[in-house]
Amino acid sequence: MTTITPVILAAGQGTRMKSKLPKMLHKICGQPMVFYALDAARAASTDTPVMVVGHGAEAVRAAVGEAARFVVQEEQLGTGHAVMQAESLLGGQDGLVLVTYGDMPLLRAETVQRLVEAQQANPGPLTLLTVIAEDPRGFGRIVRNADGTVKAIVEEAQADTSQLAIKELNVGAYCFRSEWLWTALKRIPLSPKGEYYLTDTVALAVEENLPVQAIVMDDMVETIGVNSRVHLAEAEAAMRKRINTAHMLNGVTIIQPETTYIEAGVRIGADTVLWPNTYLHGKTSIGEDCTIGPNTIIRNTKIGDRCKVLMADLESAVLENDVDMGPFARLRKGAHLGNHVHMGNFGEVKDSHLAEGVKMGHFSYIGNAEIGANTNIGAGTITCNYDGAKKHPTTIGEDVFIGSDTMLVAPLTIGAGARTGAGAVVTKNVPEDTLVVGMPARAIRKLERKK
Ligand code: UD1
Ligand code: CA
Repeated sequence: MTTITPVILAAGQGTRMKSKLPKMLHKICGQPMVFYALDAARAASTDTPVMVVGHGAEAVRAAVGEAARFVVQEEQLGTGHAVMQAESLLGGQDGLVLVTYGDMPLLRAETVQRLVEAQQANPGPLTLLTVIAEDPRGFGRIVRNADGTVKAIVEEAQADTSQLAIKELNVGAYCFRSEWLWTALKRIPLSPKGEYYLTDTVALAVEENLPVQAIVMDDMVETIGVNSRVHLAEAEAAMRKRINTAHMLNGVTIIQPETTYIEAGVRIGADTVLWPNTYLHGKTSIGEDCTIGPNTIIRNTKIGDRCKVLMADLESAVLENDVDMGPFARLRKGAHLGNHVHMGNFGEVKDSHLAEGVKMGHFSYIGNAEIGANTNIGAGTITCNYDGAKKHPTTIGEDVFIGSDTMLVAPLTIGAGARTGAGAVVTKNVPEDTLVVGMPARAIRKLERKK
């Protein structure tokens, strides 16, 4: 089997981004753009990718981690010079080298695969991707001979008037025969801009009478390269559309895709409906038959089946099945709502577990609490969990009825079957099946629990 090694160029400064952040780490649908290039290259290759880093090298390395091997291009002297840095790792190795640019997040794995397959069948030393487009976007132009064969790539800055009019553009993805590549790179002439252009390898092959093969693509969207924040927004919009389309094809209803923002790592089950203005971030997963939104933001949250989340903000939370929450509900880190929990309007839950069937209808704050099954949290209940220095736990048993406007001053334990009167300020533990009232609340009588 041929070894196919990707080399991803990610050393450029990205000057046109005007940013402190290296261009490669600017996010598209929640993920640094370089990850998309990495995923596409990996799918089409047999070997761990080599990433050429330079500008912001440490940050890029830290973000990519184990997914690639790294070589450093100390000075950014052009794309040809960048590839040359990989020779220390790959020189002397047979097979194919797949070169892509880290700033092209929309290039699909299948397209890169086609490029590799075409080069595998090519007697010549390289195959490249081109696209025919009305808007040249500053891309290199593909110059062809009268017989239609590829002659050269001319960068826009060097192109003459007739070359500027050429509609066939260099996409920026190439597959090379390894041993030819390393010798050719050393022969690239210095451009008038003082750079070594990878694109000049085309003319070098032609000079040697070796055939250069071009695959002409038709989808301009795949070729969006990110050089400025305007392109970043274009890439974001195109990626968002691609992600939404994939979910719809998997059985998710998206009422208004234009206003529904789903990041790359999100999973959604079939027959779930997303209403407009819904944002799903990070490692969020949603089960089947849920209704989410409108106007909902969910981050890194796991949601089971048949849940309803209306106008809510959820972060790092867990919802089991059949949970019903909102409008205007907020879950913060560590909120865990069991099966059939109902959480109504203006509630907030943080670092707390609400067991099966808990009802919390209106205006409550529950923090650092464990609440037993089928307990009812009355309107305006607050766990007073913070004494100004430390957080304290509240434990509430099953079948408890917390009356409206109860203040639960933690640390506190309320036994199963207990009840608090409206407006109670509870500062002492309450035994099982006991009614407490007042401020501070004190025991007044023993209760009989309903079976
Ligand atoms: C490049 C191509 C152009 C093509 C276009 C498609 C060259 C000379 N030109 O132009 O033909 O149409 O992409 O998007 O290749 N990089 C390095 N080290 C360097 C310079 C660049 O690693 O010294 C990396 C950048 O980080 C980037 C990629 O190479 O990921 C492309 O560089 P960029 O400057 O964006 O090239 P373009 O002007 O877009
Ligand atoms: Ca570019």
